[in-house]
Amino acid sequence: MTAKKVDFKRSKKWEQELNKCIRCGYCYELCPLFKSYTWESDTPRGKLILIYGMIADEIKPNQEIVDKIFQCFYCKNCSDNCSAGVPVTEVLTDARADLIEAGYDVKGTIVEIDENLCSVCGVCVPLCKYEALSIKDINKDQKKIEVDKIECRGCGLCVAACPSEAISQIEGCDITLPELHEKVKTLIQTYEDMKLIIFCCNWSLFPGMQLSESPTIIKAPYGIIVTMCSGRVAPELILNAFHEGAWGVMVAGCPPEECDHDGNYKTRRRLVLLKNMLKELNIEPERIKLEWFSTGESAKLKNAITEYVKELEKMGPIKKIEIQKMVGG
Ligand code: FES
Repeated sequence: MTAKKVDFKRSKKWEQELNKCIRCGYCYELCPLFKSYTWESDTPRGKLILIYGMIADEIKPNQEIVDKIFQCFYCKNCSDNCSAGVPVTEVLTDARADLIEAGYDVKGTIVEIDENLCSVCGVCVPLCKYEALSIKDINKDQKKIEVDKIECRGCGLCVAACPSEAISQIEGCDITLPELHEKVKTLIQTYEDMKLIIFCCNWSLFPGMQLSESPTIIKAPYGIIVTMCSGRVAPELILNAFHEGAWGVMVAGCPPEECDHDGNYKTRRRLVLLKNMLKELNIEPERIKLEWFSTGESAKLKNAITEYVKELEKMGPIKKIEIQKMVGG
């Protein structure tokens, strides 16, 4: 395929900044994408080099490069840790705009709408803080949901909320529902003593806890699964954890004013409803716990886990009959 002609008019303003990058690599220690792919070209540093190369006309854009530029969850761990102060995500956003303007189509970490499943109910639209979703007229009788590929942060809030399961995300980064289900299942089936599943937001706690290891922390009786925002934790993920045998589920998100996607407010509402549902089924609502943690509060998390495990041990496992009622068996 021939390279499309791209006018890097927005990206060029970052040339000075790109020159400041000393390739130290602090940016990728905390990059969730690097943890999944482990290729240099998937690191923030690698992407900056690609953008610099394209601006300088040393590298011709192609679909593979373009897809990489659109793979970013905007957690900003790279910019926050950059020793040269390069605003990585801002550079990426401008490069995205230039590439889209040149006519590139992209997959990246952008959400996709299956128009065959989408009923255009519009539930997803107000959820996106970045206004990446909107309802567009196809003709006078038909509408569709459109994704702004420059603005989409790939947080997955809309995926968790879509009643028709019409919104999907890239596989291979442990963010899709089947991948997260699988992680829960593996944790519970592999570790006999596994009682507590914790869904932990990548922004608030994970960076300080884990650095470059894989995004699952296992210290039975608990296992931590990292999501891109607490708002990504769909109710079915929690119910599935109970179905698999978890005694309790903790959702650890950013405190009210600190969530980058305003997803934590949605999580709070969602968990109140789920707890009420448990009550109706005669299951202790305390088996679901929501906790807020700011970056660096790993000691607070550890204490919260220890206390919660004690609580769960007093409650014991959920009775099989209650689980069957929960999943409609
Ligand atoms: Fe942490 Fe949303 S980004 S809860």
